[in-house]
Amino acid sequence: MGASRVLLCCVVLIQLFAGQTDAQRSSSRWQTLSGDAPLVIARGGFSGLFPDSSSIAYGFAKQTSVAGAALWCDVQLTKDGAGICFPDLKLNNASTVEDVYPNRQKTYSVNGVSTQGWFTIDFSLRDLSDVKLNRGILSRSEKFNGIYPILTVEDVTTQIKPESFWLNVQYDAFYAQQNLSMSSFLISASRTVSIDYISSPEVNFFKKIAGRFGRNGPSFVFQFLGKEDFEPTTNRTYDSILSNLTFVKTFASGILVPKSYILPLDDNQYLVLPPKSLVLDAHKAGLQVYVSGFVNDNDIAHDYSSDPVSEYLSFVDNGNFSVDGVLSDFPITASASIDCFSHLGRNATKQVDFLVISKNGASGEYPGCTDMAYDKAIKDGADVIDCSVQMSSDGKPFCSSSIDLSNITNIAQTSFAQRSTHVPEISSNDGIYTFSLTWSEIQTLKPAISNPYRAYNMFRNPNEKNSGKFILLSEFLSLAKNSTSLSGVLISVEKAVYLREKQGLDVVKAVLDTLTETGYSNGSTTKTKVMIQSTNSSVLVDFKKQSSKYETVYKVEEKIGDISDSAIEDIKKFANAVVIVKTSVFPLFDDGFIIRQTNVVEKLHKSKLPVYVELFQNEFVSQPFDFFSDPTVEINSYVSGAGIDGTITEFPFTAARYKRNRCLGTKETIPPQYMSPVPPGLFLNLVNAIPPAQAPNPVFTDDDVTEPPLPPVTAKSPTSAPGTSFTNAQAPRSSGQTRLTLSLRLSVFASLLLL
Ligand SMILES: *[C@@H]1O[C@H](CO)[C@@H](O)[C@H](O)[C@H]1NC(C)=O
Ligand SMILES: *[C@@H]1O[C@H](CO)[C@@H](O)[C@H](O)[C@H]1NC(C)=O
Ligand SMILES: *[C@@H]1O[C@H](CO)[C@@H](O)[C@H](O)[C@H]1NC(C)=O
Ligand SMILES: *[C@@H]1O[C@H](CO)[C@@H](O)[C@H](O)[C@H]1NC(C)=O
Ligand SMILES: *[C@@H]1O[C@H](CO)[C@@H](O)[C@H](O)[C@H]1NC(C)=O
Ligand SMILES: *[C@@H]1O[C@H](CO)[C@@H](O)[C@H](O)[C@H]1NC(C)=O
Ligand SMILES: *[C@@H]1O[C@H](CO)[C@@H](O)[C@H](O)[C@H]1NC(C)=O
Ligand SMILES: *[C@@H]1O[C@H](CO)[C@@H](O)[C@H](O)[C@H]1NC(C)=O
Ligand SMILES: *[C@@H]1O[C@H](CO)[C@@H](O)[C@H](O)[C@H]1NC(C)=O
Ligand SMILES: *[C@@H]1O[C@H](CO)[C@@H](O)[C@H](O)[C@H]1NC(C)=O
Repeated sequence: MGASRVLLCCVVLIQLFAGQTDAQRSSSRWQTLSGDAPLVIARGGFSGLFPDSSSIAYGFAKQTSVAGAALWCDVQLTKDGAGICFPDLKLNNASTVEDVYPNRQKTYSVNGVSTQGWFTIDFSLRDLSDVKLNRGILSRSEKFNGIYPILTVEDVTTQIKPESFWLNVQYDAFYAQQNLSMSSFLISASRTVSIDYISSPEVNFFKKIAGRFGRNGPSFVFQFLGKEDFEPTTNRTYDSILSNLTFVKTFASGILVPKSYILPLDDNQYLVLPPKSLVLDAHKAGLQVYVSGFVNDNDIAHDYSSDPVSEYLSFVDNGNFSVDGVLSDFPITASASIDCFSHLGRNATKQVDFLVISKNGASGEYPGCTDMAYDKAIKDGADVIDCSVQMSSDGKPFCSSSIDLSNITNIAQTSFAQRSTHVPEISSNDGIYTFSLTWSEIQTLKPAISNPYRAYNMFRNPNEKNSGKFILLSEFLSLAKNSTSLSGVLISVEKAVYLREKQGLDVVKAVLDTLTETGYSNGSTTKTKVMIQSTNSSVLVDFKKQSSKYETVYKVEEKIGDISDSAIEDIKKFANAVVIVKTSVFPLFDDGFIIRQTNVVEKLHKSKLPVYVELFQNEFVSQPFDFFSDPTVEINSYVSGAGIDGTITEFPFTAARYKRNRCLGTKETIPPQYMSPVPPGLFLNLVNAIPPAQAPNPVFTDDDVTEPPLPPVTAKSPTSAPGTSFTNAQAPRSSGQTRLTLSLRLSVFASLLLL
């Protein structure tokens, strides 16, 4: 039963994730030892999503990687000398062994260290047929736990037929102490299994296998562990072995090293540049260099801005050298980096057209809405930069991600903290609002970078956490006008009603006046399009009434599952485009997996309304598992898959680079799997054929759109100071009431699983 289910999974995966395996497209500019493109090595298959060494992990890795990718198997031996693929010599790390055999725990000395656990050597292959694979890394999904059996080395060959097979032997000395011979196993297996690479961190192991595989035998790769660790068979540190590559070359044709051997990090997680000379030195000694430790779902050096493609490129396409292979838990990202994004000039032709719209500038890398965040967004290739307009108490419009300065500046540590007030129209908590300070007071504040994933201990670019300064809307507009690459600006206006009624500040007028002052209204800039955005239709109606020169963008910030035709008709009356949130396109189950795709984009498109989607971030915790912790896969699925017209992003670089990637299909060609959009619901259906029971997102109706007109500007009086007036307090807008009946259609895939 297990095996047939697994097989079906793979068959269906192949159909759903359709695309064609392209031959290597990139030409001979590789600075590898051979001149060929670097090898993609899938550690335990696609172990970033599926249990390490499972059939689905191997099958999926093969499907979604570049042609020729190697599948990596950590070989362990059972009591009866069978070779299995499993990430550790202790089974309890990533399987159900503890539940199946609760009393089979033992203690062994492993390389001199007393170690407790369920060891493979205490189980026969037959014993293991009842044990199923689990995730080994707790931050990964447990949805695939307990389904897939442990595979032997031979199983992987017969079931998956790897194009290239890499066997890693981590513990030969330990098995030898237990009178089990890894070399005998490998030599006998090589009669039926095609082995392309054998790696090990033990020097003596290579002496045992030297010359025993014949002329076309596997390549031998020596694995370096931590620099201070002792190599168990020579009792030298890996660092000392590294100092004599000529010695390594006597028994191996390549080395496998952790990333830090080439690009070390300092204590603050920044790269220490320039890179070490290891790759050039090894190439000089005739050794290939493979690099381990590539995962998408862990913090990477700040230099990469949480973008795993940038990390790969710094190892394979840095202008000075390329490593010969990368060992990855997410081979789809390695494949795309090598085949789609390497050797791309910054001026490479755009392959796909959509708007890259910044969110508070490049706020993933600098404090939001500062001059530095905007400069970076422009430099990174944003098409549109955005200003969220706020008003100072003296009526100056400026850009700030929030009307409340307390979380986006150091204001809480200044004497202005006393101006904290309670404004129920804005928030149920106290805040220190922009309209309580003059512009010159605001200019004395230090902006702070936003850290939305602080709870995960993930912090953005700490070196620049207080860099840059806030700028006036007029400065923002001049900056944009000056740029040759921008096609537009997006000006977002919120809380206009409160500001008019209670603060006597007319933000609509302030924006229009500033546009006129900076030459946007009289055609002195024709190429920079102005878009005015609001979540309140009455604000956009007001803008339209006063000037027809500017485009208007209606933002629907609620999660919606559908949108009524009458709502779209209404929107068309005052808006030229619509912004929706990501989950209104791909709703999520338990925040972890995509359930389906809504028809919201399609319906808006039918009415000729472009759709921009918010908010794209690079941090893997911002994405559902479906996108493999890879922001490029996410962008691709929204742009090529759902057909959206713009991404609103805190990391414009990643979105702009995606546009130029050379794997995007033309009308005639289908993109390779690693650049194919992920079918919505694929993974949820794979594990859970029952529709999720949670309430679906509501339908957006015309009731949600229509608002009374903006009130007149009221001169600010002492009695209407913030915090004192509770009359007219507005409850935060609630989502529409209509419930969408759940209609998760079981896909072919899911129904096959029920067999
Ligand atoms: C399993 O082993 C890996 C690699 O050594 C480790 O990172 C992980 O935390 C372990 N998982 C469990 C559940 O012990
Ligand atoms: C391995 O074999 C040797 C010699 O036959 C024997 O002395 C030793 O006890 C065995 N060790 C184990 C762990 O079985
Ligand atoms: C290995 O070398 C270290 C330091 O050189 C020494 O302390 C240790 O005892 C040695 N271990 C063995 C097993 O020889
Ligand atoms: C490096 O290794 C080679 C080959 O084993 C050996 O001949 C040479 O003496 C070693 N050099 C040093 C400095 O240890
Ligand atoms: C390339 O090598 C040069 C000269 O060694 C060095 O200055 C530069 O930083 C290197 N660039 C990269 C990207 O490694
Ligand atoms: C890219 O294009 C810009 C403007 O067209 C030009 O100034 C720049 O030199 C080009 N860069 C490269 C690397 O070709
Ligand atoms: C501001 O930060 C505090 C503490 O970090 C947090 O509880 C609060 O939700 C934040 N407020 C906003 C508006 O982000
Ligand atoms: C516009 O560009 C010019 C020339 O690059 C520069 O001198 C000027 O300071 C820029 N103005 C603004 C507002 O950025
Ligand atoms: C447009 O207005 C700006 C600012 O008022 C002015 O400097 C500019 O000369 C005007 N351009 C035209 C073409 O009228
Ligand atoms: C939108 O503006 C109108 C005034 O034009 C106001 O009555 C309404 O409450 C506003 N809606 C929201 C959600 O703020």
